[in-house]
Amino acid sequence: MSERTIGYIVGSISSTSINRRLAKALERLAPEGTTLVEIPIKDLPFYSPDFDADFPQVARDFKQAIADVDGVIIITPEYSRSIPGVLKNALDWSARPWGQGSFDGKPTAVIGTSGGGIATAAAQQHLKAILSHYNAPTLGQPEGYVQTTPGLFTEAGEVTNEQTADFLVGYLQAFGALVDRYAAVPVAA
Ligand SMILES: Cc1cc2nc3c(=O)[nH]c(=O)nc-3n(C[C@H](O)[C@H](O)[C@H](O)COP(=O)(O)O)c2cc1C
Repeated sequence: MSERTIGYIVGSISSTSINRRLAKALERLAPEGTTLVEIPIKDLPFYSPDFDADFPQVARDFKQAIADVDGVIIITPEYSRSIPGVLKNALDWSARPWGQGSFDGKPTAVIGTSGGGIATAAAQQHLKAILSHYNAPTLGQPEGYVQTTPGLFTEAGEVTNEQTADFLVGYLQAFGALVDRYAAVPVAA
């Protein structure tokens, strides 16, 4: 069985985030041999090209954290039919300095939850377009549209609906297979 370390980014800094609960659920459901670790974004300042010559330590740490993992799951809310600004800001840091994009060749999956019927689908389409531009191999199926209902996830990340838990297990397995496929392929210099 493969040993994998998967980083996850939560695209919400809300203290009551349902997407953080979903992240906790994924942590709990990770298969044996797979470890999920958070890559935090909340302390990143607003990105500016002025930083390109000398990135602040927090941004260096963020990029190093992505470099250190075998794959990344981005777990995000939808804001105004797109991704939240805090997540876009983190992605902008990841893309710079020019030529040193952190997601180049990095297996990546997106998933998110909201109470809405389309469950962050619009945000995820925007996010996948960004990741495609970054040259990140991205999980196509299953798509991670999780509609939250009251009590679906506990604060500790327990999933109270068996079908949802089964879906998340399958989602993690599919992403693990993608990560393993790319682990065998050297990333272009
Ligand atoms: C500025 C803003 C815009 C939002 N836009 C959407 C939206 O386009 N689609 C949607 O399903 N929910 C939208 N919501 C509701 C979020 O899904 C809901 O607040 C959710 O709890 C956010 O995720 P979080 O709890 O992980 O922060 C929006 C919320 C905010 C604050």
